[in-house]
Amino acid sequence: MSPGSVHVTVPSLRARKGGPPLVMVTAYDAPTARVADEAGVDIVLVGDSVAMVVLGYDDTLQVTVDDMARHVAAVARTRPRPLVVADLPWLSYHVSVEDTVRNAAVLVRAGAAAVKLEGGRRRLPVVDALLGAEIPVMGHLGLTPQSVHMMGGYRVQGQQQEAAAGLVDDAVALAEAGCFAIVLECVPREVAAAITAAVPVPTIGIGAGPDCDGQVLVFHDLVGLEDRVLPKFVRRYGSLKAEAVAAVSAYAADVRAGRFPADDESYHLSADVAAALRSAVPGAGAGAAGAGSTGGSRGA
Ligand code: KIV
Repeated sequence: MSPGSVHVTVPSLRARKGGPPLVMVTAYDAPTARVADEAGVDIVLVGDSVAMVVLGYDDTLQVTVDDMARHVAAVARTRPRPLVVADLPWLSYHVSVEDTVRNAAVLVRAGAAAVKLEGGRRRLPVVDALLGAEIPVMGHLGLTPQSVHMMGGYRVQGQQQEAAAGLVDDAVALAEAGCFAIVLECVPREVAAAITAAVPVPTIGIGAGPDCDGQVLVFHDLVGLEDRVLPKFVRRYGSLKAEAVAAVSAYAADVRAGRFPADDESYHLSADVAAALRSAVPGAGAGAAGAGSTGGSRGA
């Protein structure tokens, strides 16, 4: 965080309904949090998408509260200016309200200022309990990846009139219950626009069109670290995977050709210690003697 910049808070964010579009991006560790912070985003989401884009799982159902807490803590240690929101993972808020509050508290103690959970009206009891414990809640409607098996795959939601109306009702109920913002994932633009008009809290879209109060993308998708799939709603602003492969390939070629490391990338003994070593150890003459140096840390 740059000196003097003010942290984004839940009330300040909530108050930005209808203002300039809000920017949210996922982050899962200190480097991605620093990038998001330096880029000036409003919200960093420690998403359970970490399961798929970082941990290599096929769905988000595999991560636990402890997994999420480790990633939240790594993000929070950078003390970023954006609001840090943590996903409650699958089964952390489905068993009981007591369980939900305790699990959310683990994420708050790890550094999250708010939690996000998936689902509509059936989540109202846990939303109420979380707010009762003073934990701000962000809702998430539409394509809710933790429901992948119930939905029969990752599909656009709310395409029929009844389903679209149900999403509007869910959003109104979440907002009335006290959610400070609602993510809308993979719903038709018209449905997102109707929800955005119907609720007094910001909507943040991903695959929901431009009429939401803000947008969110998964970090690895937007910078091109993830290049295996390209959903319709992702715009790639970088090709970091290709750049990383090129960099590691160049490193491998240099090592194999003896070009890395060069002499000036090596530490040296002082001339007298090098001479003593050569006389004590036959064959220890390799390498040029130079200015004495010690060290081995990354800063040396
Ligand atoms: O986990 C995640 O990355 C998310 C976003 C897609 C909103 O929930």
